[in-house]
Amino acid sequence: MSKVSFHRLVFLLFLSQILIHFGSCLRPRCKENEKKALIKFKENIIDPSNRLSSWIIGGDCCEWSGVICSNKTGHVIKLNLRNSFPSNSALGGAIDFSLLQLKYLTDLDLSMNNFEGTQIPHFFGSFAELRYLNLSGASFSGKIPQNIANLSRLQYLDLGFYEPDSVENDLQWVSGLHSLKYLNLEGVNLYTTSSYWLQTINTLPSLLELHLPQCQLMNLPKSIPFVNFTSLSILDLSNNGFNSTIPKWLFNLTNLKSLDLNSNSLQGELSDMFSELTSLENLDLSSNFEIEGRLPKGLGVLCNLQKLSLDYNRLNGSIAEFVDGLSQCTNPKLETLNLGYNNLDGNLPSSLGLLNSLRYLLLWGNSFTELYLSSNRMGGEIPQSFGQLKSMSVMELRDNSWEGIVTEAHLANLSSLREISIGRFSRNVSLKFDISSDWTPPFVLKYVKIQGCNLGPKFPSFLRNQTDLERIIINFAGISDVIPDWFLEMDLELHELDVAYNQLSGRVPNSLRFKTDSNVDLSSNNFEGPLPLWSSNLTTLYLRDNKFSGPIPKNIGTAMPFMTDMDISRNRLNGTIPFSIGNMAALTTFVVSSNYLNGEIPDFWDSMPMLYIVDMSNNTLSGKIPASIGNLLGLKFLVLSTNNLSGILPPSLRNCTELASLDLGDNKLSGKIPPWIGSKMSSLLILRLRNNSFTGTIPSQICNLSVLHILDVSKNNLSGEIPACVGNLTGFKTEFTSEHTALYQGRLQVVAKGRLLQYDSILYLVNSVDLSRNSFSGAIPAEITTLFRLGTLNLSTNQLTGEIPATIGRFERIETLDLSMNGLSGHIPPSIVSLTFLNHLNLSYNNLSGPIPRGNQFETLNVDPTIYEGNSFLCGFPLPAKCYRPEIAPFPGVDAGESDDDNDELERVWLFISVGMGFFVGFWGFCGSLVIKKRWRDLYFNYVGRLINRIVDCRNCR
Ligand SMILES: *[C@@H]1O[C@H](CO)[C@@H](O)[C@H](O)[C@H]1NC(C)=O
Ligand SMILES: *[C@@H]1O[C@H](CO)[C@@H](O)[C@H](O)[C@H]1NC(C)=O
Ligand SMILES: *[C@@H]1O[C@H](CO)[C@@H](O)[C@H](O)[C@H]1NC(C)=O
Ligand SMILES: *[C@@H]1O[C@H](CO)[C@@H](O)[C@H](O)[C@H]1NC(C)=O
Repeated sequence: MSKVSFHRLVFLLFLSQILIHFGSCLRPRCKENEKKALIKFKENIIDPSNRLSSWIIGGDCCEWSGVICSNKTGHVIKLNLRNSFPSNSALGGAIDFSLLQLKYLTDLDLSMNNFEGTQIPHFFGSFAELRYLNLSGASFSGKIPQNIANLSRLQYLDLGFYEPDSVENDLQWVSGLHSLKYLNLEGVNLYTTSSYWLQTINTLPSLLELHLPQCQLMNLPKSIPFVNFTSLSILDLSNNGFNSTIPKWLFNLTNLKSLDLNSNSLQGELSDMFSELTSLENLDLSSNFEIEGRLPKGLGVLCNLQKLSLDYNRLNGSIAEFVDGLSQCTNPKLETLNLGYNNLDGNLPSSLGLLNSLRYLLLWGNSFTELYLSSNRMGGEIPQSFGQLKSMSVMELRDNSWEGIVTEAHLANLSSLREISIGRFSRNVSLKFDISSDWTPPFVLKYVKIQGCNLGPKFPSFLRNQTDLERIIINFAGISDVIPDWFLEMDLELHELDVAYNQLSGRVPNSLRFKTDSNVDLSSNNFEGPLPLWSSNLTTLYLRDNKFSGPIPKNIGTAMPFMTDMDISRNRLNGTIPFSIGNMAALTTFVVSSNYLNGEIPDFWDSMPMLYIVDMSNNTLSGKIPASIGNLLGLKFLVLSTNNLSGILPPSLRNCTELASLDLGDNKLSGKIPPWIGSKMSSLLILRLRNNSFTGTIPSQICNLSVLHILDVSKNNLSGEIPACVGNLTGFKTEFTSEHTALYQGRLQVVAKGRLLQYDSILYLVNSVDLSRNSFSGAIPAEITTLFRLGTLNLSTNQLTGEIPATIGRFERIETLDLSMNGLSGHIPPSIVSLTFLNHLNLSYNNLSGPIPRGNQFETLNVDPTIYEGNSFLCGFPLPAKCYRPEIAPFPGVDAGESDDDNDELERVWLFISVGMGFFVGFWGFCGSLVIKKRWRDLYFNYVGRLINRIVDCRNCR
């Protein structure tokens, strides 16, 4: 080795020492062409919050935010521009082609930005080194470029939260991505890939996570020849359209930790083969609605299971085998057991107490009959295993038919319990709480919902010291007590207080405090004293059916301006309706019926444009109907009956074109029936003007009311002829349409929630025309008999003449027919005997003549002679006068019919209507219109949403 070369070597060694020493300082700077490309990229990007402010031409691009260079080569290898900030910092604009200059890019993350529904740029398929591509939530949409398939090194592809779009994508491109470990195509429309999507996925042997939720996949193949992607750990195929059974090949994915098939329409029974999936931690098959049969034993061996969601299916039988199985794991991991809304029954096994990780037990909406085995079956021993569930936080047991007795022993160790629900909204739960008044619970509850169980007669003392309570729902609980002082002393700030349907009495203090948007329901108790006045946070207030007295506080509207629903009906309130109610600008339901309110109705209605139910019936309100009610353009129910209102109908009312029920009966209103009721209010189901002083004729426009089911103008001073166009009232002759069915079901739903038990199906059956006690003259138009669905026709006490239409037999459904006190003549048409539903007939005091027809069950009706009396020339049974032509002898021993109080049935119906007129009627009427009006639908869902939140507690809804 020469000297020179030796020196050279020493120098090189020295140099390399320096390089090693200062290595980090001498990291290669960013490449000029890549920097230029990034600057070009930035120029085309919209960056509202200036997130790319560090990207300046003079700088080293490797230092820029989101840019990561290789330590060795200085090339940009990662671009991370994910928006983890609020939406106003999302990048947008165009993605410039220049980005392709970043030839060594391995990671590209543009997630959570907003590219406003543009396509994924084509050139993304040309990043030859790309391993990680995350475009989730970046508002790309449309066709995914096919050349993504060229990204053969790609391991991670996330297109999740793809903008929903009708553009159908294929999946051929996926088979090019051999290295893929993670694939998320959530929201990408894969409808047309149904026949081959699984085969394509099966070409990806390295796949660990597959997320294809909401991809409109319709076909989950029953079999595939060979499952290649057996490394798969997470499989999410939720929210698709699968309607088959769960295929067997799934059980070959033995590395699965999470299987999510919720919200499909999967069918059939669950297989014992779930036992193969021993790594499973999360299984979600909820909301398939069609999965049936028993919980398989195979599920009970999955000791790693942390979360099992099978709610909203049709599972039945006992859960004992499953729970027994799991309880044998050395360390059962199950935290969430959600079996809500199935048909499960039997007992809860005592082994449940061994699932010591259990935090969420959701068993609502099943048919479990016994919570604690009643003592006679267990020889006096009540299993206290529940008390061992120290981790238990949320226990949803409501909507089951629990029986037996809950003592403090069962709650003794539930120290983590925060939320509990049990019972159902009815009086018929046979579960009794027997908890001594000095027991101190180990839990600190936030939410308690105990319905229909026997908790009384004292106010439940275990709530003492529960100072974290936010929602208290204890109704139908047999409590007859006053609200105890200790409850008030806790000084809770509540979101919900619902103690409806008890016998609570005494005054309700104004000192209760409420959180924003809170609900109070004290209905159907014996509360007395002045109406309470609470904080402005209240949005719903139900105080109906108590003994509150005195005036409505003058400042109620300024005190609680955010009120949306207010029902203070059926109390003893007097005085006037305070003007301040006009401040409740969001009010939708205003029900003050059945009190002693007097004075005039304030003219403040234009400040409450959201109102759709106004019920002030059964008070002593006087004066005119204020014109501003006509500004309630969405009004559905206007019920002002049984007051002392006078004057004419305000012409502005014609703007209320959405009205379904206009009930102004039993007042002192006068003037003519305005024609616009018929021409403008085409949704009217109920028109009730009875017992007023209306004059003039029935305007023919009334015949336009094609969905009318109740027309009652009786007891007025109306005159003229009954218009022949009544035959056009198609509501009385069409079968119930789907719209009506929806209406009916909507009401049933309410009934199911127990809100209005006495309602049952009565309105469904009502089809009634009552024109009685007026001065109508002329003949009964034969057209009226085309209204073949009519249940009640009352034309009595008028001046009608001529003959009863011969076609009267067409009234297939008629139950009540009253033509009494008129001047009708001629024979009773023989077709009357075909009215097989008839049970109240009155033809008395006319000039009818000839024989009384006989036949069918008309005979049974016929035994009461008073229904024919006052017709001098009628003859035959049951009248004493014999006809000339001998009649066949009547059947002996037929009993007299029911009371012939003609109005009886209708009065009863109206009693029901006015009893229920609060928001209940609103409910059913509403559902009917949902089909038609979007605006109403929105309102309705707001309203129902609130109601459901109160009744159902929607925490678990999807
Ligand atoms: C480059 O080197 C730094 C400092 O040693 C290190 O923190 C960083 O992770 C390295 N980056 C890459 C991409 O290897
Ligand atoms: C699955 O794997 C087998 C064996 O490795 C292979 O022969 C077959 O082609 C693969 N199937 C698909 C669809 O890629
Ligand atoms: C599932 O696994 C079994 C046993 O390992 C094997 O015999 C069968 O062929 C596999 N089925 C599929 C569809 O891959
Ligand atoms: C599943 O849906 C398809 C398409 O809607 C239908 O043809 C098929 O009968 C359904 N299968 C079952 C089992 O319901």
